[in-house]
Amino acid sequence: MPEIADIQQKRIAVIGLGFVGLPLGATLADIGFRVTGIDASDAVRASLKKGKSHFEEQGLQMLLDRHLGKGFVVVDALQKGEHDVYFIAVGTPVDPKSRRPIMDYVKNASETVGKILKKGDLVIMRSTVPVSTTREIVLPSLEKESGLTAGKDFHLVFAPERLVAGRALQELRELPQIIGGLTNETDLSYATQLFKKMTPIVVDVDSIESAEMAKIIDNSYRDLTFAYANQMARLCECIGIDMVKLATAVNFGYKRNHVPAPSPGVGGTCLTKDPFILLQVGEKFGYEPKLARIAREINESMPGHVVEKVAKLLQEAGKDPKKNSVFVLGFAFKGKPETSDMRDSPTIPVVQGLQKLGCTVTGFDPVARKEQIEKLGVTVKGLEEGFRTADAAVIMTNHPTFERMDIVKLLSLMPKPAVFLDGWHLFDPKEIRTVSGIHYGGIGND
Ligand SMILES: NC(=O)c1ccc[n+]([C@@H]2O[C@H](COP(=O)([O-])OP(=O)(O)OC[C@H]3O[C@@H](n4cnc5c(N)ncnc54)[C@H](O)[C@@H]3O)[C@@H](O)[C@H]2O)c1
Repeated sequence: MPEIADIQQKRIAVIGLGFVGLPLGATLADIGFRVTGIDASDAVRASLKKGKSHFEEQGLQMLLDRHLGKGFVVVDALQKGEHDVYFIAVGTPVDPKSRRPIMDYVKNASETVGKILKKGDLVIMRSTVPVSTTREIVLPSLEKESGLTAGKDFHLVFAPERLVAGRALQELRELPQIIGGLTNETDLSYATQLFKKMTPIVVDVDSIESAEMAKIIDNSYRDLTFAYANQMARLCECIGIDMVKLATAVNFGYKRNHVPAPSPGVGGTCLTKDPFILLQVGEKFGYEPKLARIAREINESMPGHVVEKVAKLLQEAGKDPKKNSVFVLGFAFKGKPETSDMRDSPTIPVVQGLQKLGCTVTGFDPVARKEQIEKLGVTVKGLEEGFRTADAAVIMTNHPTFERMDIVKLLSLMPKPAVFLDGWHLFDPKEIRTVSGIHYGGIGND
């Protein structure tokens, strides 16, 4: 592979400073690169210019304190000739109605980079996209705006981000980095040498398209395994079998499989959208990956199932949902590793469903921001006050704070009869049933 001279001297620009771009920029600055960040959102830039991250991520604020305004500078516009490497890390959401991927941000970012690209530069596509987006949207935009030719005048690779929110900084330094290059060895070599400064293992795949596909295969697979557990949980509830205990039993000492625990839903911006990106790829290339569609259907049905269970338990307790207050624990899209990110959290449809039933919803989350929770029409309460004033309590994430709760004490504070739905089977149903006046339910283990 051709050696790239002075790799550590390369000046890096990160386009899009969200959950992916910001930890990446901070990490590259920490390694010693000179990094410039840009984001289309005035609010994001304003927050970073004040030195504050606009979301919680373990260790991120510390890195920002160390590097913002020094090795990591946030600007309103990138200038021509000031950078050698560009990371495109903008959002690639799906349209909420059509469920089709929106590539407008990728196109805009590519045009921004194209306008300032110079000979010899490297562009690294980081956003998750449908297969062929880099070749069919990014590349033409870069060439058109710059007047340069990819593969000859500049380098282009796709390098998927596979980190998990909550462990972003650690995983950026540890996960194998997949890279697919456009045309020649120099594309790969340049990107490989750069990534090797950050993480020990780089895996090069055959093409840009392979690297794009790698990311959607990963996330669709994860969504599928969770859907499998959730489907088995629904069936076990009908049979009267405890699926949670069963999953533990079938996994014990049997390394050939790992059946995940069921959950009250699968959230976050990636697992809820990447299967739809895969489905669009299937449409484009003529083969429907049905499993991805069915997995999404199952996982998306779980919040509705939670609401139905709460309604049923309230009825069993002789309560009218319209006059009841439900205390919801956990608003971030997951509890472990912890994150403040509430985007596409399964808790949102659960809150909406409960409100539709007529319930008043109160809630608590150890990390998610209070003002964001309040936007859902939820009154934020502390744990003790929340239990004391609720007719029903519902656990929606497995955040360690919830695992550590003295649940018997908290349940005993509730006005009886009361309902407790443990969506993450954090507590032994037998122990819960020792608290008189509690109508208990779980996901996969009533
Ligand atoms: N969040 C994750 O854990 C994660 C993990 C792996 C991959 N991804 C993928 O990475 C990509 C980014 O995800 P994210 O979670 O960081 O999204 P995000 O919404 O948190 O951040 C994207 C940022 O890009 C900015 N932006 C949009 N258009 C821009 C433009 N033209 N120029 C400059 N900035 C622009 C937005 O203002 C936003 O702040 C997505 O494709 C996502 O699927 C996300």
